[in-house]
Amino acid sequence: MPNSGSNSIGLLDRSLVFITGKGGVGKSSVTAALGLLAAKAGKRTLICEVDAKGDVARLLDCEPSGFEPTEIRENLFLMAMNTEEALREYLRIYLRLPVVAMLGPLAKTFDFVANAAPGVQEILVVGKLCYEVREAKYDLILVDATSTGHIVSQLASPKGISELVRLGMVKDQVAWMEDILYDSLQTSVIVVATPAETPINEALELAERIDLETEVHLGALVVNKVMPELFSRSEEEFFTALKDPKVAKVLSRVVSSDIGLLLRGSSAALEMRRCAAPYVERLMGSSDTVPVALIPLMFGAGSGMKLVRDLGEALAAEWDELLWQG
Ligand SMILES: Nc1ncnc2c1ncn2[C@@H]1O[C@H](COP(=O)(O)OP(=O)(O)O)[C@@H](O)[C@H]1O
Ligand SMILES: [Mg+2]
Repeated sequence: MPNSGSNSIGLLDRSLVFITGKGGVGKSSVTAALGLLAAKAGKRTLICEVDAKGDVARLLDCEPSGFEPTEIRENLFLMAMNTEEALREYLRIYLRLPVVAMLGPLAKTFDFVANAAPGVQEILVVGKLCYEVREAKYDLILVDATSTGHIVSQLASPKGISELVRLGMVKDQVAWMEDILYDSLQTSVIVVATPAETPINEALELAERIDLETEVHLGALVVNKVMPELFSRSEEEFFTALKDPKVAKVLSRVVSSDIGLLLRGSSAALEMRRCAAPYVERLMGSSDTVPVALIPLMFGAGSGMKLVRDLGEALAAEWDELLWQG
């Protein structure tokens, strides 16, 4: 596992932070939680949903956004990535083509260009994000990024293109992106996993690939949905004592119901925590310098604002110094 570089500035003091990991681990939830924290702290924050499923909007109880950012809360903006719109914007800004003139031909040629040349889709995503950093309309851009497979090719795309095409104009066009993307004081990646074998393996593999195949700073690893310690050892002994069939029978009679269900629930909670422990330890022991945060599995928090607020509180409590230093 790589030992990533400088953590001398806070994660949320940077300009561009990608949140990635295997599907379902909580990328969108962590992105929304960080967005809320940053906005509350007074940072003008843009969240970009790359896969445009609208999950961040749902988590923040607002309408999904299009390519044009919408302000969903004070200091918090949301946009959905769209590579065709990104290309349109690029042509308008850099080649100064009038929008009307390019509408027809662009629609026809977009698929051809985007699918014919390797790395075009990726560079359009990264290019738009870097453009927003350069425009400096926001203090922070949080990217609810694609899952494991795609993110490496996106992060590596400027490097790949500049190696592929050494021509002046193309090289100049990607050089400024590399300056933003590969500067550890500006850009960082957070990898999210859950405490189970496949997500942890994928997170470790992804961290390795980010290190080897890109020059992007790996800022942190998050283990989300960690079963909290619901009771202490003495309470565990208490539950074990209750499992004695004679005791259970008496208790069931007292409450006029089978207390076996409750006891099985307590055993399941303990078992889940025990099973997860080795994976959490493996990730925590994987690097001396990349910080790891644990976020508990939130019971009954639903999948909207309450969950996002609870996640934010957990992250802030665990990571205060890592999030803000500036
Ligand atoms: N710490 C947590 N505790 C409980 N539920 C969570 C937690 N983190 C995320 N979830 C839930 O898990 C599901 C997947 O989360 P999501 O952020 O959409 O994952 P991803 O973006 O990685 O696919 C969602 O229903 C979300 O509400
Ligand atoms: Mg998601």
